[in-house]
Amino acid sequence: MGRVYNIAVIAGDGTGPEVVREGKKVLNAAAARFGFGINFTEFDFGGERYLRTGEVLPESATEELKKFDSIFLGAIGHPDVKPGILEKGILLRLRFELDQYINLRPVKLYPGVATPLKDKGPEHIDYVVVRENSGDVYTGSGGVTMKGTPDEVAVQNMVYTRMQVDRCLRYAFEYTRKRNRKKTLALCGKTNVLTYVFDLWERAFHEIGKSEFPDITREYYHVDATCMWMVKNPEWFDVIVTTNMFGDIITDLGAITQGGMGIAAGGNINPKGVSMFEPIGGSAPKYTGKNIINPLASICCGGMMLEHLGEESAARAIENAVMDVTANKLKDLGAGKMGYSTTEVGNLVAERV
Ligand code: IPM
Ligand code: MN
Repeated sequence: MGRVYNIAVIAGDGTGPEVVREGKKVLNAAAARFGFGINFTEFDFGGERYLRTGEVLPESATEELKKFDSIFLGAIGHPDVKPGILEKGILLRLRFELDQYINLRPVKLYPGVATPLKDKGPEHIDYVVVRENSGDVYTGSGGVTMKGTPDEVAVQNMVYTRMQVDRCLRYAFEYTRKRNRKKTLALCGKTNVLTYVFDLWERAFHEIGKSEFPDITREYYHVDATCMWMVKNPEWFDVIVTTNMFGDIITDLGAITQGGMGIAAGGNINPKGVSMFEPIGGSAPKYTGKNIINPLASICCGGMMLEHLGEESAARAIENAVMDVTANKLKDLGAGKMGYSTTEVGNLVAERV
């Protein structure tokens, strides 16, 4: 037997299992066509398990998951669980413990997909956001004192080490070089207010860029201006690198310009370890079990995962199949508006792969 990949599947909550089912269908089609094998192993982490057992994530989970080539995740989030418990206890914990320090989020408008941006088409919206995924306000540094009193103090610190900044920037520069388009990397920050953290980012950006990546053009945008240009002139961007919190925010803006949560995919990457691929959208509880949710985001995650595993032809085949389906089949990307069921959309893509 040739190449075989062992993939951990966390289908998760809500519509997660439905979209993951279609994602796996397309991955299996790609494996058959391109001559590799995939073994899926299912893990039941999510809201249902937590409500049943009281345990968010078993102690052994990270060690167990480290044995796989990648993790394929559906959605985490349950209407009966207080916000924060599952997000922090599963998603963020896995990102941190598996040291997935990059969150890679392509913003690409596929043909036939409607964008809310006036006069913009697929030729204008095609860039990638490299979101730092291990530091910032996500570290949990801070605390609260005098809670519940009029003097309550709440602190949540924006934390970055030089090591975290350097490794993220190197990944972003390498990625820009490999992508080989405009060869332009834009740092998105807030040097005019967050003078400690973004002084560090800006210095490291120019030092590393100048000495190791002289072939890559460096640009800088404040985060607020980035939001304006992502709407007004998205064609300016090739690759954007930014901090965890800013990246969280600007990639939702990016996602809506590419057609929304039905299509937006992302990867939590540990370049030397186990990476995890997940749709940007959530568990969409109100559509659960109806077979009307759009599985394309999960399918695109499968493509990203294959590219990360080195199966580049297979990844391209999935993307081309998705583009053919958006251009020629789907009426809309919204749940229940596609003109096809979740299962049918998976079939359309799988047939084309
Ligand atoms: C995302 C999500 C998560 C984040 C939440 C669910 C913890 O919004 O993946 O963008 O903030 O990173
Ligand atoms: Mn988010």
